[in-house]
Amino acid sequence: MADVPNGEQGCGSPLELFKNIAAQGELVRALKARNAAKNEIDSAVEMLLSLKMSYKAATGEDYKADYPPRDPALGSDGGLDATEAGEDFVDPWTVQTSSAKGIDYDKLIVRFGSSKIDKELINRIERATGQRPHRFLRRGIFFSHRDMHQILDAYENKKPFYLYTGRGPSSEAMHVGHLIPFIFTKWLQDVFNVPLVIQMTDDEKYLWKDLTLDQAYGYAVENAKDIIACGFDIKKTFIFSDLDYMGMSPGFYKNVVKIQKHVTFNQVKGIFGFTDSDCIGKISFPAIQAAPSFSNSFPQIFRDRTDVQCLIPCAIDQDPYFRMTRDVAPRIGYPKPALLHSTFFPALQGAQTKMSASDPNSSIFLTDTAKQIKTKRAPRWPVPGSVGRSSPRPPPTARAGLHAQGGGPTSMCVLSLAQVNKHAFSGGRDTTEEHRQFGGNCDVDVSFMYLTFFLEDDDRLEQIRKDYTSGAMLTGELKKELIEVLQPLIAEHQARRKEVTDEIVKEFMTPRKLSYDFE
Ligand code: TRP
Repeated sequence: MADVPNGEQGCGSPLELFKNIAAQGELVRALKARNAAKNEIDSAVEMLLSLKMSYKAATGEDYKADYPPRDPALGSDGGLDATEAGEDFVDPWTVQTSSAKGIDYDKLIVRFGSSKIDKELINRIERATGQRPHRFLRRGIFFSHRDMHQILDAYENKKPFYLYTGRGPSSEAMHVGHLIPFIFTKWLQDVFNVPLVIQMTDDEKYLWKDLTLDQAYGYAVENAKDIIACGFDIKKTFIFSDLDYMGMSPGFYKNVVKIQKHVTFNQVKGIFGFTDSDCIGKISFPAIQAAPSFSNSFPQIFRDRTDVQCLIPCAIDQDPYFRMTRDVAPRIGYPKPALLHSTFFPALQGAQTKMSASDPNSSIFLTDTAKQIKTKRAPRWPVPGSVGRSSPRPPPTARAGLHAQGGGPTSMCVLSLAQVNKHAFSGGRDTTEEHRQFGGNCDVDVSFMYLTFFLEDDDRLEQIRKDYTSGAMLTGELKKELIEVLQPLIAEHQARRKEVTDEIVKEFMTPRKLSYDFE
C-alpha cells in the first residue's frame, strides 16, 4: 500500500502540534513521576501551555488528548472512524481493507490518536518486569497503546493497577484468533502479578445478534472455559457475565449510570455510527463495556478504591469504546484506563479482513481436530502485479470478528481444520518452477502471518522468511511448518479445556476477593 504521508504532517501543522503536545505532556508526567526539581517541572509545564495555545490558534479548538485534529471522533458533530473511499475501515463490527498485506496499522495509529509501541517502550517493559518481552510485543502484534508509560510509572512506584479484557460470546465455538488477547493478557498477569477482570458481554450479543438471553448466557459460560484454558490464575481472575453480574453489583451499576449521564446520543452516534432506528439497548451498551475500566465497579476486589488504574489489552477495533471511556473518566472523577492494542488475526483467505467465526472457512476453530487443521487449503498467490486482487475477497460480514461469531458450532468444527491447506491464502507462485525462480511473498501469505503469531523461535521464523522469499522453501513446506506449530497448540488447548469443570467455571465467575489486599 502506498504510504503517502498526508500534507498535514508537515512542520507546525495541527497534527504536528498535537503530537508535540502529547509528547510534552508525557515529559511533564515523567518529570513529576521522578520528583524532578520544581523549576524543571515548571518550565516543562509552561512549554506545554504554550503549545496548547498554538494548537488552539491553529485549529480553533482546545487540545483534547486522544482526539487528533483530523478525526474528531468525539465531539458535537461526531464523525465516524470511517475513512475516505478506498481506505481501510475499522470499527467494532467491521474490519476491511483492499490491501492483501492487511490493514495499514501506522495510519490507524495516526487516525485513532494512539501511540506506537516502540522499541523504547518494549525495553522499558523488559526492564520493569525482568522478563523477555512476549513475542506479540517483539513482532508488533501488540502495536499501539495509550498511557502505557503511566502504568509502568505506577508499577515502578509500587502502586497497584489491574487488567481488564473481555469477550462477546456469540457462539459456542471460539477460533484461534480469539485467543490472541487472552494469551497476551495471561502473560501480562504473570509478569506484573496483578488482578484481572474479564467481561463476557452476553447482553451485547443478545442485543446485536439473533439469540435468546439463555443462549447468550450459555455461550458466555462455554467461552469462559476456553478462556480459563489459557491458564489464568483463579486467585487473581474474576470472569463475569454482564447478565449475571450487573444485577448483583450496585457498584457496577452505579458506574454504568454515571457513564450514561455523561455521554450524549450525539456522541455515540459519532463514535459508533448508531442511528435513530437502533434499539436503545445498543445505544446505551457502550456504558456497560466502559464500566469495568473503573476499580469501584468491583468492590469485592478493590473495596471502595476508585483510583486503581486499569490497563486494557484488546484488539484495536475495541478502541472506540475506550476512547469514549477515557473522555468520560475525568468528568466522573476516575483515572483514564490505559490500553494496549493488537492487530487483527487475518482470515485464512487473506488479510483483507480478520478471522471470523461466522465464516467457517475463514477460521481455525479451537474445536478442530488435528486432522482438520491440515486439510484447510489455500488459493495461490497470483501472477506479479495482481497481488491480492484475484484472491477470493471475504464477504463484508456484518460483524466480522476477532470478537465476533455466529452459526452453529459443531457442524463448523468438522468443516474447519481441513482449511489451512485448502483455504489459507498463499504468497507462493503458481508453479514450482516459478516459485523457485521468483520466490514467495511473505507479506501477503497468511500461513506466514500465522507463524508470526504462534512460532516462538525468532531465528527459525527469520530463516523461514528468507527461504520462502528466495524460493528455497515451497508453499507446501511453509504450510507444513504452520500445521506443525498449530496442531500441538490446539491439542494442548483442548486438553486444558477438558480439565475445566463446571465447578471451576463457577468459581471463576463468583464475585469474591482475589489474592490482593486493597484498603
Ligand atoms: N465487545 C467485545 C466483543 O464483542 C467484548 C469486550 C467487552 C471486550 N469488554 C472488553 C474486549 C474489553 C476487549 C476488552 O468481543
